[in-house]
Amino acid sequence: MGAGKSTLGPELAVRLGRSFVSVDDVVAERAGGTVEQIFATRGEADFRELEERAAVDALANGRPAVIELGGGALASAATGIALAEAAFTLLVEVTPGEAWERVSRSGRPLARDEAEFRTLYEKRRPLYERVADGRAADADGAVLAAAGIRFASHREARGDTVVADERVAELHGIEAAHLVPAGEQAKTVLEAERLWRGLRLDRGSRLVAVGGGSTTDLAGFVAATYMRGIAWIPVPSTLVGQVDAAIGGKTGIDLPEAKNPVGAFHWPAETVIDTTLLATLPEEEWANGLAEVVKTGLLVGDPLWELDTADQVRRCAAFKAAVCLRDPRDEGERAQLNLGHTFAHALEAASGYGLPHGRALGLGLLAALRLSGLDEQVRMVDAVLRPQPAHVDREAAWEALLRDKKAQGGKPRLVLLDAPGSAHIGVELEPEVVRAALDTLIE
Ligand SMILES: NC(=O)c1ccc[n+]([C@@H]2O[C@H](COP(=O)([O-])OP(=O)(O)OC[C@H]3O[C@@H](n4cnc5c(N)ncnc54)[C@H](O)[C@@H]3O)[C@@H](O)[C@H]2O)c1
Repeated sequence: MGAGKSTLGPELAVRLGRSFVSVDDVVAERAGGTVEQIFATRGEADFRELEERAAVDALANGRPAVIELGGGALASAATGIALAEAAFTLLVEVTPGEAWERVSRSGRPLARDEAEFRTLYEKRRPLYERVADGRAADADGAVLAAAGIRFASHREARGDTVVADERVAELHGIEAAHLVPAGEQAKTVLEAERLWRGLRLDRGSRLVAVGGGSTTDLAGFVAATYMRGIAWIPVPSTLVGQVDAAIGGKTGIDLPEAKNPVGAFHWPAETVIDTTLLATLPEEEWANGLAEVVKTGLLVGDPLWELDTADQVRRCAAFKAAVCLRDPRDEGERAQLNLGHTFAHALEAASGYGLPHGRALGLGLLAALRLSGLDEQVRMVDAVLRPQPAHVDREAAWEALLRDKKAQGGKPRLVLLDAPGSAHIGVELEPEVVRAALDTLIE
């Protein structure tokens, strides 16, 4: 009571693309009166019975929803069982002082006396602790918990074996049974085979992967395929990994012909983000990450790049997690995460992947923002990322752009912004317009 569930619940429902159900509202509707009236006229025992029925019905419904349970609902054993069977249960963290502050003037039946309120809080707290699968104090925290993303030391990632980027393992003294080459060279069939043959795990095992997006893409793919799928825990060690690559369950490897053509969706059992790992990150890798932070900030509609690193990571991770929870298999709105990427991929391919992703993405964002008519944001990207034109073959870049998997019938499909915070996916423009935008990125 007073934890802020009625505010957080609907916000979380929007973030996760689910409906919102307030058990109190269901009770009130069924009984034809407010909770206060039911308490006053029928007593608490009757109310609890109605509450239990409403909670169990909501939990048995099967359709994904965010369900707000009243503070006393856990006294019911049936509700506890239904929660354990059907729900991810989130404990909304609040101190008794804050909660009292919120409810003391509400006139709620069980919030009329501060001492009684605090006693009730202490009595209920162990019940909440027992059923909680996760805890959060705000909407980002709730999304992160629902997605299984935890901010903690990398040493807290528990698994049966560790796969690590060899450089990261050395820099951070990580004991790993399986070392993989640093960076993109890890994402090969050969490295996947080496892991498949080297792992000594059973179906119930958990694989921990420590490294940047290359390591987590490879290890996640191996986890998705080894014994038809074992649990895995990415521990991203780059800014790109922490704000993007380790989130959302996409895994994969490269082939000589293309990047990422082979892969699987395999949502991690848990993701452990430790921003202290970034202390050893080389400058060019920070730049790659910053480009993704700017992209995410444009999609969120907030200047996330101005935050300190820990907050950047938290906001970006929560944003991507929510989009991916809404569209786990990339069948719809997840495409917004490709803002700037159609151009970036074309430039990277034309450069034979010599162009760093951050620089290519900086250029890609410029093109997407120009086509969106957002001059202020074009100036921002110029100032924050300072993308220098790429030295690549124009024809090769154009061909790569048309080959992009988002192009349909030879017409490139782009992600543009109506405004910061409002993406428009699948925009088809005339090829000449897109070609002209691409050409401005090339020196
Ligand atoms: N699955 C996804 O959703 C997704 C999203 C974005 C990118 N990706 C993939 O991620 C890959 C790029 O990953 P990345 O940018 O994280 O880099 P990376 O994993 O390729 O690593 C880049 C370099 O940084 C080094 N490094 C990593 N962590 C370090 C640390 N803490 N200290 C010092 N050096 C460190 C690595 O050894 C390597 O040399 C690409 O293959 C891309 O396709 C995947």
